[in-house]
Amino acid sequence: MSAINELYQQLILEHNKSPRNFKTMDDADKKAEGFNPLCGDHYTIFLKIKDNRIADIGFQGAGCAISKASASMMTAAIKGATVEEVEALFQKFHAVVTGKMTSDTDVEDLGSLGALAGVAEFPARIKCASLAWHAMHSVLHEMNDSTKTVVTSDTMT
Ligand code: FES
Repeated sequence: MSAINELYQQLILEHNKSPRNFKTMDDADKKAEGFNPLCGDHYTIFLKIKDNRIADIGFQGAGCAISKASASMMTAAIKGATVEEVEALFQKFHAVVTGKMTSDTDVEDLGSLGALAGVAEFPARIKCASLAWHAMHSVLHEMNDSTKTVVTSDTMT
C-alpha cells in the first residue's frame, strides 16, 4: 500500500472511531435522514443555517466505517461554509467518488475528503461514501417547506 493510501485509510479509521460533530440538535433548522435499505445503515443530519451559511451541523446514526467516516468528514468540511460552497463541494465530492473526476488534482482539491476517492473502484462502496452527503444535499436544496427529508440508497445517483 502506498504511503498516501495508508494515510487515507488511517484518516477513515480515525473519523470512524472519533466522528466529528456526532451530536443531535434540538433546534436544527433542517433535518435529513439517509437510509441504505441494503444494509440498514442510517444517519440523521441536523443543520442550522444562518446568513446563508452552515452555522452548525451534527449527525447521529450507525453504519459501516466508510459511511460514518464520510459523514464525519462532511460535517467538518461544510461547517461554516456558504450554501454555494457546500453545493460546489458536494458536486466535486460526488464526481470524485463516482469516478467521474479522477485526476490527482481533483482528489487533492478535496483535502482530507480525498481519502474517500478510492471507493470509486468499488461500486457498492460509493453509496457508503455518499449516504450522508445525499441526505444533507437533498434537505439543503429541497423546494418545499418541509424541514425534514429522507433519502434512501435507492434514490441516490
Ligand atoms: Fe451500509 Fe456502507 S455497508 S452504508
